[in-house]
Formats: sequence, C-alpha cells, structure tokens
Amino acid sequence: MLQGAEGPGVRRAMEMVVALGRIYGARRLVPIASAQVSGVSYKNLGQAGLEFLRTWAQEGARARVPGFLNPAGMDMERWRALGIPEEFARQQEAVVEAFARLGVQPTLTCAPYLAMPWPARGSHLAWAESSAVSFANSLAGARTNREGGPSALAAAIVGRTAAYGLHLDEGRQATVEVRVQVPLRDEADFGALGILVGQEVGQGVPAFVDLAGQLPGEASPFPPRGGEGRECLPQAGGGREKSAVDLLRALGAAMAAAGAVALFHVWGITPEVRDEPALGRAPRRLEVASLEGVYARLNAPAEKVDLVHIGCPHASLDEIRQVAEAVRGQRLAARLWVTTGRAVRDEAARQGWVAQIEAAGGHVVADTCTVVAPIQALGIRVLATNSAKTALYAPAHCGVAVRFGNLAQCLEAARTGRWPGGDR
Ligand code: F3S
Repeated sequence: MLQGAEGPGVRRAMEMVVALGRIYGARRLVPIASAQVSGVSYKNLGQAGLEFLRTWAQEGARARVPGFLNPAGMDMERWRALGIPEEFARQQEAVVEAFARLGVQPTLTCAPYLAMPWPARGSHLAWAESSAVSFANSLAGARTNREGGPSALAAAIVGRTAAYGLHLDEGRQATVEVRVQVPLRDEADFGALGILVGQEVGQGVPAFVDLAGQLPGEASPFPPRGGEGRECLPQAGGGREKSAVDLLRALGAAMAAAGAVALFHVWGITPEVRDEPALGRAPRRLEVASLEGVYARLNAPAEKVDLVHIGCPHASLDEIRQVAEAVRGQRLAARLWVTTGRAVRDEAARQGWVAQIEAAGGHVVADTCTVVAPIQALGIRVLATNSAKTALYAPAHCGVAVRFGNLAQCLEAARTGRWPGGDR
C-alpha cells in the first residue's frame, strides 16, 4: 500500500497510519474491526475539510472495514423544522456525501454501540469521538486509542492501525486509584465527578475503587471475557433511575472532555478489571471529597433558559423514555432537544416516546448535538443541560452561557423557561 499499488488514496492513508506509528514508537500494525470518524460537522470542517474529503475519494480511497460517522451539524431530515440555515444544510449534505463516497456509513452518532452489537472484548478499533472511545475501552473492553478524525479515516481505508498506547496490555494499567467520598445522586453528579477526575488525571487511566456501591444493579452489566458483544436495541428499563451503563457513559464522556482519559476502570464492575483486579492497582491516589467547585465552575448566573439539551453522549432509549414520561401532558416554555442516533430515534418513535415529547413542544433530534450544530444561528444564548461534557464545551464551542444540573432540573427549566432556584 505504501508503494501506491492500490492507488494514491490508499497510499496517503497508509502514510498517515505509519507516520503515527513512528511518532508513538509502534512496532507493528494491527487489523481493526471498525473505525469511528469524527470531524463531520460542517461547522468544524469548513470548506477546506470538505475539499480534502472529496480529493481523497477521487483518489480512490474506500473504507475496507465498517466505518461510522460522528454527529453532523444538523438533523439530516428535519433541519428545516429546527431552523438550520439552508446554506449550512447544503454544505453539510455535501460533507456526508463525501464520506459516503469514502465508504463510511452515515450513522451520525457518537454512540454507535446503542444501535449495533458492542465491539468485541479485546478487538482493535480506530475510534475518534472521545466519549465513544471511553465507552469502547472501558465498558466494552475493546482497544482503541483516541484517534483524530483523519487518522480514524485513514485506518478505515487501510483496515489497520498502529499498535501503541491502549492497544497494548501495558497501556491499560491504571495510573491513579480514585476514591469517591461524596454520594453521587444522579447523572449530573457522575458527570461532575468526571470533570474533576479528568482534570486531575489528564491522559492517565483512573481506577475507581469504591464506585460499585454507587451504581444501580447488583452485578456488573458488562459481558464476560470471551462473551459476545452486547446488543443494545431495543433496551429500555422501566424505572426512574438511570442505568449503570448510562451513568458510566456520563462519567467517561466528562473525563474525556476535561482531560484526555480514554480508558477507566471501576473495581468489580468494568470488564477488564473485574477479571484482572491487578489492572486496577496504581501507586498514585486521588480522593474526591466535594463536587461543589465543579458545579460552581460550570454554571453561569443566567436565569432565563432558551434551550434545554439532553443526550450528550447521544441518548439511550431509556433516557428518551424518561424524558417522554416526565414531559407527558405538559407545554414547554423553552426549546427542548433530546439528541440521539437515528436508529435509536426510530425505535423511540415506535414506542410512542417521540410523539409524547413533540406533543409537549420538544424535539427528538437525530444526527447532531448542540455542540456541533450552529445553535448561535438559532438565537440560543443560554443552554441548560444534564451533561457535564456539554456544559464544559458549549461556552467555548457555541458562545452560549450554560446551566448544568440533573434531568429533573433541566426539564423544569424546559417547562418554565427559567433555571430552577439553587445551585447544587
Ligand atoms: Fe456526542 Fe455531541 Fe456530546 S458528539 S458526546 S452529543 S458533544
């Protein structure tokens, strides 16, 4: 491939994979089972990025393993109803078309594992979206570094990636043992914890020593060694509590956003450390005694809320069900977006939950999220969210003020148009 026998597009991809391997001291390439490619929103990619993709496709490059796309800058079907400017929409369509010519499926979600079997334990991947990387490594027990958009695409085109970092056993050893001395009440607390730990740990591998007791359910929900990847659709519990998987997704996404944490362990729970406890031992200790500082930092002193965003990372069926049940029969004063992948939205529609949310005036938005959509063009000034990742990113990426709290607070803000009193 490096000699160009398969064309200039493949040679370009192999050059990228090999260059990364050299930089990180990799001794070999490993075949990958799939690639997940970020950098899809036209808001971030721009015209130069679009031309780059078109050129690569013209050079004959095609993904040779299953490749999935991260969210785009809009719902590809309902962009008009959501107020996305036409000029932006046309360029976004061109981006998705260019990726399609490169053989990458327009899944347009940061949670592809919600609509397909989880990646197999120990399989090598080249995934780019940081929350998906956290999920794949930590909860599925697969192996991926945190790729950039172009390097994930290059890996898809050559079907392999350089074996360094988290592809190797030694890269998966914990570097910090974390003890959590505060009760975690909900997904917002798990996210706030993720912000704090991510900032402390940076690129390390945290192992949570005593988190199992703060998760719902008695047994680890993750597949055993040698077990098949788990199916996630259709799957929605019946209670008001978030599932352990959704809480850990919130934690992992926040750690990845605040630091560069691509793998974490939870003693007794996550698959690798459950089977090999020594992986979760580390000489450095971190004790978390309070989350108040995180809430203070993530919350602006805004009262009026323009848009409430639930679904970062993209919402599971269970999360959509919870929103639908909470807003049933209400009339919302602020805009509400529940963002998710299209396959999950379709299933939620079959269950009647999309109709319930829409009847209240909200939207279940597929293919995008508030961080990558041009929400400033929609007149949004204050955003409320139960996602610590969105709360951290939105001020810089979207130029909005943020209120951050749990699902009940966010839905109260959607109902009244104002953030309910009292910070957490
Ligand atoms: Fe996904 Fe957007 Fe959050 S890509 S992880 S919903 S910032």
